[in-house]
Order: sequence, then structure tokens, then C-alpha cells
Amino acid sequence: MLPADLHQVCAIENLCYTTPWSFNSFKHEIENSDAILKVAVFNSQIIGYVCIRTMLDMTHLMNIAVLPEFRRRGIGKMLFGNAIGELKRLQPNTKLTLEVRQSNTAAVRFYEKFGFNVTGKRTKYYKEPEDDAIIMELDIALFFPDQN
Ligand SMILES: CC(C)(COP(=O)(O)OP(=O)(O)OC[C@H]1O[C@@H](n2cnc3c(N)ncnc32)[C@H](O)[C@@H]1OP(=O)(O)O)[C@@H](O)C(=O)NCCC(=O)NCCS
Repeated sequence: MLPADLHQVCAIENLCYTTPWSFNSFKHEIENSDAILKVAVFNSQIIGYVCIRTMLDMTHLMNIAVLPEFRRRGIGKMLFGNAIGELKRLQPNTKLTLEVRQSNTAAVRFYEKFGFNVTGKRTKYYKEPEDDAIIMELDIALFFPDQN
């Protein structure tokens, strides 16, 4: 993801989330050397993106989205798998963690497919609408891109 991508990225973000990240949130991540950001491009159009960032010994999934009309075609899997593969080369001992809305069963299934396990819950973590967060974790030593 480059600064020039941000208008397209923000358009997808605004479509996918009720409390979207701002242009500056993405810009801040691009400028952070501990973050890995990827975009998926089809016919010169950005159709999805992922952002992960390492903080001390943990890496956090910060954001991921695919345009609704391109979902269930393996784009999210390609994006996230690519980012995890790069992370594994750079930080082979890190753990990957994320929060996901309890009601977002599509995303929970998606993460389970990568081998993430549920490790906790944060009650009423989300607003608009209010929802609990499920905390999931993956030991990336156990992640092998070819098997996912
Ligand atoms: C989560 C998201 C990024 C997945 O992207 P995607 O490109 O549709 O995912 P993929 O096609 O790579 O799916 C890979 C696997 O995840 C699982 N999966 C993905 N979407 C699913 C759904 N709606 N229902 C059930 N399983 C699903 C399936 O196992 C799928 O493999 P399969 O299609 O062979 O069965 C996408 O749904 C999205 O952008 N959602 C809105 C934003 C969001 O909720 N982000 C996560 C916030 S925590």
C-alpha cells in the first residue's frame, strides 16, 4: 500500500465499516516501519487490503477488507496469507492476535481457516452497533502458507 492508494482504500473502508479508519490512520500505518500493508489489485482497481503491525512480541491484525462484490474468491486469503508469510520471514517467533465482532461470523470463519484460536472475549468492545469482541490468536510458527 502506497500513499497514492489511500483514496481507493478509504472508499472501501467507508463501505465496509460503520466506524471507518480515517485517511490519516492509514497514512500513519504506512509510515510505521513495524507495519506490513498490502493491497489486492484487479484491472488497476484496488479491491482489498490488509494491515498488520508488530508491537513488542505480538503482531496485531489492524485492518482487513475486501470489496463486497469480490468476496468468497480467495482475495482475503491471498492478502492475509501474503502478509503473514512476510511477517514469518521477518519475525518468526511472533504471535498474531486480532479482535473480531462476535456477530461477524464470516470473518470468524475466515480466521479459523487460517488456524486462529479463540483466546478471550471483550464485552461491549464495539459501538455502532454495540457488540462483544472475540479475541483470536495464531502462533505463526504453526502457519505454513502452502497449507492454507
Ligand atoms: C473477512 C473478509 C476480509 C474475507 O475476505 P474474502 O476475500 O471474502 O475471503 P476468502 O474468499 O479468501 O475466504 C477464505 C475462507 O474464509 C472463509 N469465509 C470467508 N467468508 C466467509 C463467509 N461469508 N461465510 C463463511 N466462511 C467464510 C471460508 O472458509 C473461505 O474459504 P472458501 O470460500 O473456500 O469456503 C471479507 O468478508 C470482508 O472484507 N469483510 C468485511 C470487513 C471485515 O469484516 N473485516 C474483518 C474485521 S475483523
